[in-house]
Amino acid sequence: MAKRTLVTAALPYANGPLHLGHLAGAYLPSDMFVRFKRLKEDDIVFICGSDEHGVPITLAADRAGVTPADIVDKYHQINKETFEKLGISFDYFGRTSSETHHKTSGDFFKTLYDKDVFVEKSQRQLFDPKADMFLPDRYVKGNCPKCGFEEAYGDQCEKCGSSLSPTELLNPKSVITGETPEFRETNHWFLPLNDFQEWLEEWIDSRQNWKSNVAGQCKSWLNEGLNERAVTRDLNWGVPVPLPDTDGKVLYVWFDAPIGYISATKEWAEQQGEPEKWKTYWQDEETRLIHFIGKDNIVFHCIMFPAMLKAHGDYVLPENVPANEFLNLEGRKLSTSRGWAVWLHEYLEDFEPDLLRYVLAINLPETRDSDFSWSDFQVRVNSELADILGNFLFRTQSFLNRYFEGIVPELVNPTDRDREVLNAIGEYADEIDKLYEEFRLKEAVLQSMNLARLGNKYFTEMEPWHLRKSDMERCGTVLHVCAQLSAALSIVFDPILPNKMQTLRNELNVKESTWKNITSELLPAGHKIEKGSILFQKIEDETIDAQVKKLKERAGEPQPEDIPDLKETAVIDDFARIDIRSAEILSAEHIPKSDKLLKVQVNIGLEERTVLAGVAQQYEPDDLVGKNVLVVANLKPRKMMGVKSQGMILMAEDPDGNLYPITTEAPPGSIIK
Ligand code: 2FM
Ligand code: ZN
Repeated sequence: MAKRTLVTAALPYANGPLHLGHLAGAYLPSDMFVRFKRLKEDDIVFICGSDEHGVPITLAADRAGVTPADIVDKYHQINKETFEKLGISFDYFGRTSSETHHKTSGDFFKTLYDKDVFVEKSQRQLFDPKADMFLPDRYVKGNCPKCGFEEAYGDQCEKCGSSLSPTELLNPKSVITGETPEFRETNHWFLPLNDFQEWLEEWIDSRQNWKSNVAGQCKSWLNEGLNERAVTRDLNWGVPVPLPDTDGKVLYVWFDAPIGYISATKEWAEQQGEPEKWKTYWQDEETRLIHFIGKDNIVFHCIMFPAMLKAHGDYVLPENVPANEFLNLEGRKLSTSRGWAVWLHEYLEDFEPDLLRYVLAINLPETRDSDFSWSDFQVRVNSELADILGNFLFRTQSFLNRYFEGIVPELVNPTDRDREVLNAIGEYADEIDKLYEEFRLKEAVLQSMNLARLGNKYFTEMEPWHLRKSDMERCGTVLHVCAQLSAALSIVFDPILPNKMQTLRNELNVKESTWKNITSELLPAGHKIEKGSILFQKIEDETIDAQVKKLKERAGEPQPEDIPDLKETAVIDDFARIDIRSAEILSAEHIPKSDKLLKVQVNIGLEERTVLAGVAQQYEPDDLVGKNVLVVANLKPRKMMGVKSQGMILMAEDPDGNLYPITTEAPPGSIIK
């Protein structure tokens, strides 16, 4: 067991406000993990900060007609406050424009330079003569050479996910002037990742307990073969390249940003009054370094940064990188440019932070993309937080206050069931502990709620409202058990609902809130509790409708230019040859080894059929079962992944590539004409 843990959460770009996807991807899971480790009294430091360099910042500044410094000052402040309000408990939230960071990342580059790690090369790069500047990364748009998408960026195609360099784009255009750029020679320094290929392969293989989505992505990068990567850019915003005659050149943002974790730890140590203390977290082998990130950052944290750290030689390497997949919103991909997002600072104007923490935590995109919908938010708050957890706590507190004057009664002659429930506290705590340590946070949340479920069930079974009249001593024993469970819940739920659990502990007068105390009698007989409050108010339909309306209004309808052109004119006979029937989906299941296909059983009125549908990335089998859809029923059967598909379920596809089944109220077998 390592002596200490250093947790980092991806430094968000200070180019705009934070949304739900940020929270679910990196910040909530890291905060829950850290809060849990603090409960266990482990030595842990939690580091984050603003990523203030790179093209995302300069572009945002260009668009707003202000300086990059204006942009980062504004969003650093806004985002820092948002994190605080959400209870994201960083020990330090730094920024990469700080002096410490400029020095730390400049020195890091210089060390690698002095060790001859870099390859220096002159290269032809895209240059916009009108704007008088080179066009790195997102300063160019064009056609993706891999999939043809017309709006691919110079560093990445958002359609097919390929990582690109600006010169690879077909038909490139400057995003500043719209002009076709020309080529000019420029000098840059490259990190030869190919030299690290073998070492990285072995190192990644030796990592224990990495999530399969993370290990899988690393393997596929390694299988493709690593290349040199430029670590400098022609830009006037960033950390200047610390070499002579390099005016107008800065470090590539993905070179300096991860070093930001080190700089922020240095600033934290200084703030602690122990300026050398950062070294134990970065240079002592007994440190466990863990990076929480979203999946789009995997290559940088699992390949590029480890290679940089290894080349430098003075630092520990990450032990784990529990990256999350993406969070969708109301069944569609989050898109800030299209306004399809819920901004956290806006959420906080209308709701309490803990509600969102819980709803995202129970549905984290840990192993696959997950979806946030306002209706699910309402259901989880009302039927889980209010009806299960809140209800049990309130029943117990009210009963104790009403019939025992707020004094915890004695445990007298406990029955087997009483003992079983008391023992369950330790059993659940052990299970939850294991789940947190394995980064299975979603399951940890589920088990936490199961402990509250058990409490509710026990309270209902024991009927203390009857016992109170027939056997006050027995009633007291039941309430004693419920009191211990309530106190245990205030600890178990602390990483998820920190504000609410603090309120609860104040009401219960729980002083010892550490994990190891969970099984001790936290509220001994004679202990006085205060009056309880209703921790979770139910959310009304109108409140939810208003949120959905706000989201839809802001996103607007798709713009005409996003909608594909009509196909060639068809005659009625073309259409008449296709036999489309309404059909009921009877069952659906995943197909092993296929991440796209679902095997769906449908009733087309005449018979039952098996059809394959390429929707597995968007829908779970349960989402589809029971729907009445449209099926092309006279399509020649086709075999895919060893399964014969006898038809095709019709889907509508929106400009983002999201699929929607076309549903109907017509009974199975009805002809579409
Ligand atoms: O994707 C992003 O938002 C980046 N700003 C994350 C940087 S993480 C780290 F390397 F700093
Ligand atoms: Zn592409």
